Amino acid sequence: MSKVTIDNVTDVVIASLGQNGDITARQREIMTALLRHLHGFCKDVTLTHGEFIDACMFLARAGSICDDRRQEFILLGDILGVEVLCDMLTNPVTGAESESTVLGPFYRENPPVLPHGASTAQKHFDNEETVFMEGYVQDISGKPLAGVTLDIWEDAPNGLYENHDHDQPDFNLRGRFETDENGYFALRALRPVPYPIPSDETAGELLRFMGHHPNRPGHLHFIVSKHGYRTLVSQIYDRTSKWLDNDSVFAVKDSLVGDFLPGKPEHGTDLYLRFDFKLKTEAASQSIAAE
Ligand code: BEZ
Ligand code: FE
Repeated sequence: MSKVTIDNVTDVVIASLGQNGDITARQREIMTALLRHLHGFCKDVTLTHGEFIDACMFLARAGSICDDRRQEFILLGDILGVEVLCDMLTNPVTGAESESTVLGPFYRENPPVLPHGASTAQKHFDNEETVFMEGYVQDISGKPLAGVTLDIWEDAPNGLYENHDHDQPDFNLRGRFETDENGYFALRALRPVPYPIPSDETAGELLRFMGHHPNRPGHLHFIVSKHGYRTLVSQIYDRTSKWLDNDSVFAVKDSLVGDFLPGKPEHGTDLYLRFDFKLKTEAASQSIAAE
């Protein structure tokens, strides 16, 4: 092995890849680029040894607070815009399909299965605004898709998701709906309000280091899925919400902004939201990925 100097250290480490164990072509590609970028970053900012130790301690603190309710590394990735970037690289928009965005840390599997038009709200808040939401799910040619599952979740009018608030019933503001033979779905929910992502601990340290606030605009989360189609993980944003142009996790996209209009008398809700989704087939996603 060559002796290291400041000029050859990057090439020496890259040349060592796979020398004492088999690695795949993908592992080599990832590690080569990681080492070039990481060493380049250290040189660009002349990272001191003290700053390197500070970063190690920061990562140790982040790891120590991870549990089944808090995944600090995803949160740090969100604050850095890395989750939204990886999502766009994984799910590039190639045609008429709906855009995806970040999943975030608040999804719970197996929400209550609710009938057409039912409400996800199990508790009332003084400042709540009820919304009737409807739409169609189609393929990219406009053909209605029946039997599509829509998981929806959102924060309550107090800005908290139910699994972070002891005063909300289990699975409040979460539900699973299905499209009918026309690809139509309908549900009742509450207007989502802006809320701050967790900003204590290391997520807060990073936000302050970057001079950022923790807030997200009001949004409804969706997972739209049907066998044979690419699962869509996305969010609908309230066009009038604070922080729409300044989201702490950079996840807002133009096509995902919806209009919460005045409610229609026949629905008995304060607001009305129409939003359609288009799914592409799994085969279409795979052929693009292979290009
Ligand atoms: C969310 O939308 O629930 C979320 C996304 C990224 C980080 C934190 C929360
Ligand atoms: Fe959210």
